[in-house]
Amino acid sequence: MAPQKLIIDTDPGVDDAMAILFACAHPELELVGLTSIFGNVTVDVATRNALVLTELAKTNVPVAEGAAGPLVQTPRPVAAEVHGAEGFGHVPPITPVGTPDGRSAAEFICDMVSAHPGEIVLCPIGPLTNLADALKRDPAIASKVKSVTVMGGSVWAGGNATPHAEANIWQDPHAAEDVFAASWPITLVGLDVTHDVICTNAQFADLAKAAPTHGGFLNEISQFYFRFHDEANGFLGCYMHDPSAVISILHPELFTSTQHPVKVVLEGEEAGRTLISEESRRPAIDVCHAVDAEGVKQIFLSTIAAAG
Ligand code: RIB
Ligand code: CA
Repeated sequence: MAPQKLIIDTDPGVDDAMAILFACAHPELELVGLTSIFGNVTVDVATRNALVLTELAKTNVPVAEGAAGPLVQTPRPVAAEVHGAEGFGHVPPITPVGTPDGRSAAEFICDMVSAHPGEIVLCPIGPLTNLADALKRDPAIASKVKSVTVMGGSVWAGGNATPHAEANIWQDPHAAEDVFAASWPITLVGLDVTHDVICTNAQFADLAKAAPTHGGFLNEISQFYFRFHDEANGFLGCYMHDPSAVISILHPELFTSTQHPVKVVLEGEEAGRTLISEESRRPAIDVCHAVDAEGVKQIFLSTIAAAG
C-alpha cells in the first residue's frame, strides 16, 4: 500500500520534534509538508525549528510559515518554561541551511489538499489557527481532505494550560471552534489519552544509545522537558502528546473513541475548554478516550531506534 500522505501543522516544541522525526522515519507515512504555527514558541522560531528537523531527518519536505498569533484573542505567552526559550529545551538555536516555502501555511494546505483530493491527512499538533485560515481561504478543502487528526483538547481529563483548557486550544479557542464546527472527519487525540502515554528519561537514554542521531537529538532536547514534568507532575519523563496523535493515524486500533459534537469555550475563566455540545446540527467528531499506551510507546521507540 502507498504510504499515507501527511501534513503536520506544528509549533516545535520538544514533543513536536518527536512527532516530526517519527513521521520522517516511518515507512508507511509520506510527510508532504510541515506548516508552522505560534504556540510553544513564536512562529519564526517554529519555522526555523521545523527546517532544522527536516535537515536532521535528511528530507527536503517543504516548510510553510503560518500565523503569528490567534484569530481574535490577545496572544498568550509562549511555553518557554515547558519547551525552553528556543523550543528545543536547553539546546541553543540551530541555524538551518534551507529556507521556508514561499506560500503561507494556509495557502500551502489548500494547494496540497486540492492537488491530492481524498489523500491527505492533516495533523495539527499546535494551535488551530492555520487550519481555520485554510478553511476560510477555501472551504472546499473540508470535503477534499482524507481526515484531520488533532492533538488538542481535553473533554474529560481537565486542562494543562489552565485547570480547564489544553494548551493548543487555549492558545486560539476561536480557531478551534471554527475547525470543530466544520464538516470534515476529525479525530481528537487530547489529554484524555495523551496523559496515559508516558516515556521515561531512561527510555530516552536507551534510545540515544540505539539511535545516536535521531534518538540522541531527542534525548538531548528532552532533558529540559523531563525536568518540567518532574516539577509539575512528579515524574522524570514526559507525556507523549504530539507523537501519540501521529501514531493514531497509522494505528487507530490502539485508540478507543466515541463520537460527539465538540464546542469550545471562547472567553472567560474557562476559555479553551472543550465540551460535548448539545447542538444537533454540529458534526460529531471522534473523541479518543482510551489508549493502549504500551503499544503507542513501543511503536514510537522502535521507529526512532530504526532511524539511527
Ligand atoms: O497540550 C499538549 C500540546 O501543547 C502539545 O502539542 C505540546 O507541544 C504543547 O504545545
Ligand atoms: Ca505541539
